[in-house]
Amino acid sequence: MNRTRRLRKTENIRRLVRENKLTIDDLIYPLFIEEGVGIETEIVSMPGIKRFSLDRISKELDEVVALDIPAVLLFGIPAKKDEIGSETWNDDGIMQQAVRFIKKNYPGLYVITDVCFCEYTSHGHCGIIHDNDVDNDATLVNIAKQVISHAKAGVDMVAPSGMMDGMIESIREALDNTGFSNLPIMSYAVKYSSAFYGPFRDAADSAPTFGDRRTYQMDPSNRDEGMREATFDDQEGADILMVKPALSYLDIIRDLKNNFDKPIACYNVSGEYAMIKAAAEKGWIDGERVMMESLLSMKRAGADIIITYFAKEAAKLLLK
Ligand code: PBG
Repeated sequence: MNRTRRLRKTENIRRLVRENKLTIDDLIYPLFIEEGVGIETEIVSMPGIKRFSLDRISKELDEVVALDIPAVLLFGIPAKKDEIGSETWNDDGIMQQAVRFIKKNYPGLYVITDVCFCEYTSHGHCGIIHDNDVDNDATLVNIAKQVISHAKAGVDMVAPSGMMDGMIESIREALDNTGFSNLPIMSYAVKYSSAFYGPFRDAADSAPTFGDRRTYQMDPSNRDEGMREATFDDQEGADILMVKPALSYLDIIRDLKNNFDKPIACYNVSGEYAMIKAAAEKGWIDGERVMMESLLSMKRAGADIIITYFAKEAAKLLLK
Protein backbone atom coordinates (compact mmCIF):
# COMPACT_ATOMS: atom_id res chain seq x y z
CA MET A 1 0.00 0.00 0.00
CA ASN A 2 1.12 3.58 -0.53
CA ARG A 3 1.63 4.86 2.97
CA THR A 4 2.46 8.56 2.92
CA ARG A 5 2.37 8.56 6.71
CA ARG A 6 5.75 6.75 6.81
CA LEU A 7 7.53 10.01 6.15
CA ARG A 8 5.60 11.92 8.81
CA LYS A 9 6.50 9.78 11.77
CA THR A 10 8.98 11.97 13.64
CA GLU A 11 10.10 15.56 13.53
CA ASN A 12 13.47 14.57 12.06
CA ILE A 13 12.02 12.79 9.06
CA ARG A 14 9.54 15.63 8.60
CA ARG A 15 12.50 18.03 8.56
CA LEU A 16 14.24 15.93 5.90
CA VAL A 17 11.29 15.92 3.51
CA ARG A 18 10.11 19.47 4.16
CA GLU A 19 9.66 21.24 0.82
CA ASN A 20 9.41 24.90 1.75
CA LYS A 21 10.99 26.99 4.45
CA LEU A 22 10.42 30.52 5.55
CA THR A 23 13.65 32.35 6.37
CA ILE A 24 14.53 35.84 7.56
CA ASP A 25 16.17 36.33 4.16
CA ASP A 26 12.70 36.40 2.60
CA LEU A 27 11.36 39.33 4.57
CA ILE A 28 10.88 43.04 3.93
CA TYR A 29 9.50 45.24 6.72
CA PRO A 30 7.31 48.25 5.80
CA LEU A 31 7.81 51.51 7.73
CA PHE A 32 5.58 54.58 7.93
CA ILE A 33 7.60 57.78 8.26
CA GLU A 34 5.72 60.94 9.13
CA GLU A 35 7.05 64.45 8.66
CA GLY A 36 7.40 66.30 11.97
CA VAL A 37 9.00 65.73 15.36
CA GLY A 38 8.20 63.60 18.38
CA ILE A 39 5.74 61.38 16.49
CA GLU A 40 5.29 57.76 17.51
CA THR A 41 1.64 57.01 16.84
CA GLU A 42 0.17 53.56 17.26
CA ILE A 43 -2.07 52.59 14.30
CA VAL A 44 -5.27 51.37 15.92
CA SER A 45 -6.19 48.83 13.25
CA MET A 46 -2.62 47.48 13.03
CA PRO A 47 -1.56 46.57 16.58
CA GLY A 48 2.22 46.78 17.02
CA ILE A 49 2.74 49.04 13.98
CA LYS A 50 3.43 52.76 14.39
CA ARG A 51 3.96 55.92 12.41
CA PHE A 52 7.31 57.46 13.37
CA SER A 53 8.94 60.80 12.77
CA LEU A 54 12.63 60.52 11.94
CA ASP A 55 13.80 61.65 15.38
CA ARG A 56 11.95 58.70 16.93
CA ILE A 57 12.72 55.93 14.49
CA SER A 58 16.15 54.71 15.59
CA LYS A 59 14.85 52.20 18.13
CA GLU A 60 12.73 50.56 15.44
CA LEU A 61 15.64 50.45 12.98
CA ASP A 62 18.00 49.06 15.64
CA GLU A 63 15.54 46.23 16.13
CA VAL A 64 15.22 45.53 12.40
CA VAL A 65 19.00 45.36 12.07
CA ALA A 66 19.40 43.20 15.20
CA LEU A 67 16.87 40.75 13.80
CA ASP A 68 18.85 40.60 10.55
CA ILE A 69 15.88 41.61 8.39
CA PRO A 70 17.49 42.50 5.04
CA ALA A 71 15.29 45.37 3.89
CA VAL A 72 12.73 48.03 4.74
CA LEU A 73 10.04 49.49 2.47
CA LEU A 74 9.37 53.15 3.22
CA PHE A 75 6.09 55.05 3.04
CA GLY A 76 6.20 58.81 3.53
CA ILE A 77 3.47 60.84 5.20
CA PRO A 78 4.08 64.50 4.31
CA ALA A 79 3.08 67.52 6.40
CA LYS A 80 1.45 69.14 3.38
CA LYS A 81 -0.47 67.71 0.47
CA ASP A 82 -1.59 69.31 -2.80
CA GLU A 83 -3.56 68.43 -5.94
CA ILE A 84 -0.62 66.84 -7.74
CA GLY A 85 1.49 65.49 -4.89
CA SER A 86 4.44 67.78 -5.63
CA GLU A 87 6.09 66.92 -2.31
CA THR A 88 6.96 63.52 -3.81
CA TRP A 89 9.76 65.05 -5.85
CA ASN A 90 10.93 67.59 -3.28
CA ASP A 91 14.58 66.69 -2.67
CA ASP A 92 13.99 67.67 0.95
CA GLY A 93 10.69 65.83 1.28
CA ILE A 94 10.06 63.34 4.07
CA MET A 95 10.88 60.29 1.93
CA GLN A 96 14.16 61.80 0.73
CA GLN A 97 15.12 62.80 4.29
CA ALA A 98 14.27 59.31 5.50
CA VAL A 99 16.39 57.63 2.84
CA ARG A 100 19.37 59.85 3.64
CA PHE A 101 18.94 59.29 7.39
CA ILE A 102 18.72 55.51 7.14
CA LYS A 103 21.52 55.08 4.60
CA LYS A 104 23.79 57.29 6.75
CA ASN A 105 23.04 55.63 10.08
CA TYR A 106 22.30 52.05 8.94
CA PRO A 107 24.38 51.67 5.80
CA GLY A 108 23.97 47.88 5.79
CA LEU A 109 20.19 48.00 5.65
CA TYR A 110 18.65 47.78 2.15
CA VAL A 111 16.23 50.66 1.62
CA ILE A 112 13.30 50.50 -0.79
CA THR A 113 10.86 53.35 -1.38
CA ASP A 114 7.20 53.03 -2.29
CA VAL A 115 6.70 55.24 -5.33
CA CYS A 116 3.18 56.64 -5.43
CA PHE A 117 1.13 59.79 -4.90
CA CYS A 118 -1.85 58.77 -2.80
CA GLU A 119 -0.27 59.81 0.53
CA TYR A 120 0.73 63.13 -1.03
CA THR A 121 -2.36 64.27 -2.92
CA SER A 122 -5.21 66.20 -1.31
CA HIS A 123 -7.73 63.89 -3.05
CA GLY A 124 -5.88 60.67 -2.11
CA HIS A 125 -5.66 59.26 -5.65
CA CYS A 126 -2.46 57.79 -7.08
CA GLY A 127 -1.85 60.51 -9.68
CA ILE A 128 -3.05 63.68 -11.36
CA ILE A 129 -6.82 64.06 -11.68
CA HIS A 130 -8.40 65.17 -14.96
CA ASP A 131 -12.14 64.80 -15.52
CA ASN A 132 -12.62 62.91 -12.26
CA ASP A 133 -10.12 60.20 -13.11
CA VAL A 134 -6.38 59.70 -12.83
CA ASP A 135 -4.63 60.90 -15.99
CA ASN A 136 -2.20 58.11 -16.83
CA ASP A 137 0.36 59.89 -18.99
CA ALA A 138 0.42 63.14 -17.01
CA THR A 139 1.07 61.05 -13.92
CA LEU A 140 3.98 59.24 -15.59
CA VAL A 141 5.81 62.55 -16.01
CA ASN A 142 5.63 63.15 -12.26
CA ILE A 143 6.53 59.58 -11.35
CA ALA A 144 9.78 60.09 -13.27
CA LYS A 145 10.53 63.19 -11.19
CA GLN A 146 9.73 61.29 -8.01
CA VAL A 147 12.04 58.33 -8.71
CA ILE A 148 14.92 60.56 -9.74
CA SER A 149 14.57 62.43 -6.46
CA HIS A 150 14.54 59.15 -4.48
CA ALA A 151 17.56 57.96 -6.45
CA LYS A 152 19.49 61.14 -5.69
CA ALA A 153 18.71 60.66 -2.00
CA GLY A 154 20.48 57.29 -2.19
CA VAL A 155 17.71 54.70 -2.21
CA ASP A 156 18.68 51.09 -3.06
CA MET A 157 15.53 50.11 -4.97
CA VAL A 158 12.25 51.77 -5.99
CA ALA A 159 8.84 50.10 -5.80
CA PRO A 160 6.18 51.85 -7.89
CA SER A 161 2.68 51.00 -6.68
CA GLY A 162 0.38 53.27 -8.66
CA MET A 163 -0.70 50.83 -11.40
CA MET A 164 -0.28 53.33 -14.23
CA ASP A 165 0.26 51.86 -17.69
CA GLY A 166 3.80 52.28 -18.98
CA MET A 167 5.00 53.08 -15.47
CA ILE A 168 7.99 50.74 -15.49
CA GLU A 169 9.19 51.90 -18.89
CA SER A 170 9.03 55.57 -17.86
CA ILE A 171 10.85 54.88 -14.60
CA ARG A 172 13.55 52.75 -16.23
CA GLU A 173 14.15 55.43 -18.82
CA ALA A 174 14.24 58.23 -16.26
CA LEU A 175 16.75 56.35 -14.10
CA ASP A 176 18.92 55.30 -17.03
CA ASN A 177 19.07 58.86 -18.34
CA THR A 178 20.20 60.29 -15.02
CA GLY A 179 23.03 57.91 -14.20
CA PHE A 180 21.03 55.37 -12.20
CA SER A 181 21.03 52.44 -14.59
CA ASN A 182 22.04 50.12 -11.74
CA LEU A 183 19.07 50.99 -9.54
CA PRO A 184 16.54 48.13 -9.58
CA ILE A 185 12.75 48.38 -9.81
CA MET A 186 10.37 46.16 -7.87
CA SER A 187 7.06 46.60 -9.63
CA TYR A 188 3.71 46.26 -7.91
CA ALA A 189 2.90 44.48 -11.16
CA VAL A 190 -0.34 42.75 -10.22
CA LYS A 191 -2.12 44.93 -7.70
CA TYR A 192 -5.78 44.42 -7.04
CA SER A 193 -8.38 46.95 -6.00
CA SER A 194 -8.75 45.39 -2.58
CA ALA A 195 -10.70 45.97 0.61
CA PHE A 196 -7.72 44.45 2.42
CA TYR A 197 -5.93 47.84 2.18
CA GLY A 198 -8.33 49.44 4.67
CA PRO A 199 -6.01 49.71 7.69
CA PHE A 200 -3.13 50.98 5.52
CA ARG A 201 -5.20 53.90 4.32
CA ASP A 202 -5.69 54.93 7.95
CA ALA A 203 -2.00 54.36 8.62
CA ALA A 204 -0.80 56.36 5.63
CA ASP A 205 -3.68 58.80 5.53
CA SER A 206 -4.28 57.93 1.88
CA ALA A 207 -7.94 57.01 1.42
CA PRO A 208 -9.42 58.63 -1.71
CA THR A 209 -11.76 61.53 -0.88
CA PHE A 210 -13.99 60.63 -3.85
CA GLY A 211 -14.51 57.50 -5.90
CA ASP A 212 -12.23 54.49 -5.61
CA ARG A 213 -9.18 53.00 -7.32
CA ARG A 214 -11.00 50.66 -9.68
CA THR A 215 -9.98 52.51 -12.84
CA TYR A 216 -6.32 51.72 -12.18
CA GLN A 217 -6.09 48.81 -9.73
CA MET A 218 -7.20 45.38 -10.92
CA ASP A 219 -10.57 43.71 -10.57
CA PRO A 220 -10.28 40.85 -8.01
CA SER A 221 -12.22 38.61 -10.43
CA ASN A 222 -9.39 38.52 -12.95
CA ARG A 223 -6.56 36.04 -13.24
CA ASP A 224 -5.54 36.15 -16.94
CA GLU A 225 -5.25 39.90 -16.73
CA GLY A 226 -2.66 39.43 -13.98
CA MET A 227 -0.46 37.63 -16.49
CA ARG A 228 -0.91 40.52 -18.91
CA GLU A 229 0.09 43.07 -16.28
CA ALA A 230 3.15 41.02 -15.30
CA THR A 231 4.15 40.50 -18.94
CA PHE A 232 4.15 44.23 -19.64
CA ASP A 233 6.18 45.03 -16.54
CA ASP A 234 8.59 42.22 -17.34
CA GLN A 235 9.08 43.56 -20.88
CA GLU A 236 9.41 47.13 -19.64
CA GLY A 237 12.31 46.09 -17.42
CA ALA A 238 11.01 45.40 -13.91
CA ASP A 239 13.63 43.50 -11.88
CA ILE A 240 11.18 41.99 -9.39
CA LEU A 241 7.47 41.34 -9.97
CA MET A 242 5.09 41.72 -7.05
CA VAL A 243 1.58 40.44 -6.39
CA LYS A 244 -0.60 42.33 -3.94
CA PRO A 245 -2.44 41.42 -1.71
CA ALA A 246 -0.97 38.00 -0.93
CA LEU A 247 -3.27 35.68 0.98
CA SER A 248 -6.33 35.86 -1.23
CA TYR A 249 -4.14 35.88 -4.34
CA LEU A 250 -1.90 32.84 -3.88
CA ASP A 251 -3.04 31.53 -7.29
CA ILE A 252 -1.65 34.66 -8.93
CA ILE A 253 1.68 34.29 -7.10
CA ARG A 254 1.94 30.76 -8.49
CA ASP A 255 1.04 31.94 -12.01
CA LEU A 256 3.87 34.44 -11.93
CA LYS A 257 6.33 31.95 -10.46
CA ASN A 258 5.56 29.46 -13.22
CA ASN A 259 5.74 31.95 -16.05
CA PHE A 260 8.48 34.47 -15.28
CA ASP A 261 12.16 33.97 -14.74
CA LYS A 262 12.42 36.82 -12.26
CA PRO A 263 12.16 36.99 -8.49
CA ILE A 264 8.54 37.12 -7.35
CA ALA A 265 7.48 39.19 -4.36
CA CYS A 266 4.16 39.41 -2.58
CA TYR A 267 2.71 41.99 -0.22
CA ASN A 268 1.03 40.58 2.87
CA VAL A 269 -1.12 43.68 3.30
CA SER A 270 -2.54 45.60 6.25
CA GLY A 271 -5.96 43.93 6.28
CA GLU A 272 -4.39 40.47 6.28
CA TYR A 273 -2.30 41.52 9.25
CA ALA A 274 -5.25 43.10 11.05
CA MET A 275 -7.45 39.99 10.67
CA ILE A 276 -4.91 37.71 12.30
CA LYS A 277 -4.16 40.22 15.06
CA ALA A 278 -7.83 40.73 15.84
CA ALA A 279 -8.71 37.04 15.98
CA ALA A 280 -5.62 36.32 18.08
CA GLU A 281 -6.48 39.12 20.51
CA LYS A 282 -9.88 37.56 20.99
CA GLY A 283 -8.24 34.22 21.69
CA TRP A 284 -9.99 32.65 18.69
CA ILE A 285 -6.81 31.55 16.92
CA ASP A 286 -3.18 30.97 17.87
CA GLY A 287 -1.79 34.20 16.37
CA GLU A 288 1.82 33.05 16.13
CA ARG A 289 1.03 29.79 14.42
CA VAL A 290 -1.45 31.35 12.01
CA MET A 291 1.10 34.04 11.17
CA MET A 292 3.81 31.47 10.38
CA GLU A 293 1.41 29.24 8.45
CA SER A 294 0.16 32.08 6.29
CA LEU A 295 3.68 33.37 5.55
CA LEU A 296 4.68 29.82 4.64
CA SER A 297 1.69 29.56 2.29
CA MET A 298 3.08 32.54 0.35
CA LYS A 299 6.43 30.78 -0.01
CA ARG A 300 4.72 27.58 -1.08
CA ALA A 301 2.73 29.55 -3.65
CA GLY A 302 6.03 30.72 -5.12
CA ALA A 303 6.98 34.00 -3.47
CA ASP A 304 10.71 34.58 -3.15
CA ILE A 305 10.17 37.76 -1.16
CA ILE A 306 7.44 38.63 1.35
CA ILE A 307 6.69 42.19 2.39
CA THR A 308 5.01 41.91 5.76
CA TYR A 309 4.14 43.83 8.92
CA PHE A 310 4.86 40.52 10.68
CA ALA A 311 8.56 40.69 9.67
CA LYS A 312 9.89 41.49 13.16
CA GLU A 313 7.67 38.95 14.93
CA ALA A 314 8.42 36.22 12.40
CA ALA A 315 12.15 36.98 12.52
CA LYS A 316 12.10 36.61 16.31
CA LEU A 317 10.64 33.14 15.97
CA LEU A 318 12.99 32.20 13.13
CA LEU A 319 16.07 33.30 15.10
CA LYS A 320 15.29 30.85 17.91
C1 PBG B 1 -0.40 52.80 -2.53
C2 PBG B 1 -0.23 51.65 -1.63
C3 PBG B 1 -1.22 51.01 -0.89
C4 PBG B 1 -0.61 49.98 -0.17
C5 PBG B 1 0.75 50.03 -0.47
N1 PBG B 1 0.96 51.06 -1.41
C6 PBG B 1 -2.63 51.31 -0.69
C7 PBG B 1 -3.59 51.50 -1.73
O1 PBG B 1 -3.44 51.14 -2.90
O2 PBG B 1 -4.61 52.04 -1.34
C8 PBG B 1 -1.33 49.04 0.73
C9 PBG B 1 -0.51 48.33 1.71
C10 PBG B 1 -1.29 47.64 2.76
O3 PBG B 1 -2.52 47.58 2.77
O4 PBG B 1 -0.62 47.12 3.65
N2 PBG B 1 0.63 53.68 -2.51
